[in-house]
Amino acid sequence: MKNLRNDFPILQEKVNGHPLIYFDSGATSQRPIQVIEKISEFYSRFNSNIHRSVHAFSEQATGMYEEARQKVADFIGAQDTSEIIFTRGTTESLNFVAATWARKHIKAGDEILVTEMEHHANLIPWQQVARQNGASLKFIPILPDGSLDMSQLSTLITDKTKLVAVTHASNVLGTHVDVEKIAKEAHKVGAKIVVDAAQSSPHQKLDVKKLDCDFLAFSGHKMLAPTGVGVLYIKKELHDETPPFHYGGGMVFEVGYDKASWQVAPYKFESGTPAIAQVIGLGAAIDYYNDKINFEEAQKYEAQLTAQAIDGLSSLEGVKILGPVEQLKKNGHLVTFVVDGIHSHDVSAYLSNFGLCTRAGHHCAQPLAKKLGVISSVRASFMFYNTPQEVDAFIAMMKDMKL
Ligand SMILES: Cc1ncc(COP(=O)(O)O)c(C=O)c1O
Repeated sequence: MKNLRNDFPILQEKVNGHPLIYFDSGATSQRPIQVIEKISEFYSRFNSNIHRSVHAFSEQATGMYEEARQKVADFIGAQDTSEIIFTRGTTESLNFVAATWARKHIKAGDEILVTEMEHHANLIPWQQVARQNGASLKFIPILPDGSLDMSQLSTLITDKTKLVAVTHASNVLGTHVDVEKIAKEAHKVGAKIVVDAAQSSPHQKLDVKKLDCDFLAFSGHKMLAPTGVGVLYIKKELHDETPPFHYGGGMVFEVGYDKASWQVAPYKFESGTPAIAQVIGLGAAIDYYNDKINFEEAQKYEAQLTAQAIDGLSSLEGVKILGPVEQLKKNGHLVTFVVDGIHSHDVSAYLSNFGLCTRAGHHCAQPLAKKLGVISSVRASFMFYNTPQEVDAFIAMMKDMKL
């Protein structure tokens, strides 16, 4: 893992004379030089719009864009490229499903099931659908240790359940969710399942066939790719019953003054000029994963860093760790904590003085924060480019802060 750090130019930066320690990859990862150069190369040598003109540059750009779609399809085990829709990110992907499939198919009296630990992006769109379509929202509870109470699943999923929307890994607690099991239960009653994979896609191999999910969303920027690009996987069988999200150029088959018809997927779901360079950058990020990252090893390594941080923090008086500690030590990539008597913003600002980047706040999960009784907390999130020495430095800073 050590050599991989050299691929990330930003990791050479200093803050107040201290080496940068970046423990905020859960918010956005850093980019390797291979991705940065690919974007630069695109703008320097190939820039053109796609799917429109027949000149050489447009054909080249279209080829690069569609090649990225193939890379994403292979990366997550999709049946074919028509299942891969490029969006702006996880938030847009989830809003997409809410505004299209869910708006159309969820009726008054139906139920939507989510968990108590969803990011706002996988909660508010379903609140809106429930309100507008007369459906109700139900919650799979979390247990005191921050794991999901799966024992409630069979009673919570009923004949009224039409959609289950769950995170694959919590951005606050780090909890991993058994999506395969939830998908099985959901499908027994004919419900569809949406997976928020924003926190899992950078750290573990995704396999949409194995998960058997109907929709799956993730963001490029959390997995080495540029901002402004994300993915929505839509199972092929649902393409016809899912209406377009946005209307305009690029997604039409035939247009008259009074009506229009659509292309087939994925084009039906992508209108207007997409984020071409960012999609190509996402393709380069996937190349990077394929060439350099063994997911099993990376996950084990990140879990070791997590365990080291948990052990160090646990040894400090007045520090409380949120989340299922034993699971995090096995396969986690983050640790979230609170310090008695010190606001999380102050903790994070203190660490920042020494070049250490963490995230402080409610982490876009206010209902969860309220449930946990900690309105604000600090999150340190790790990636394969972090080191045990950085974790030692973090714990030493925390010790000094407490003195
Ligand atoms: C679990 C989870 N879901 C959704 C999102 C939203 O992702 P984005 O801001 O890239 O749309 C995030 C981002 O932090 C997240 O961690």
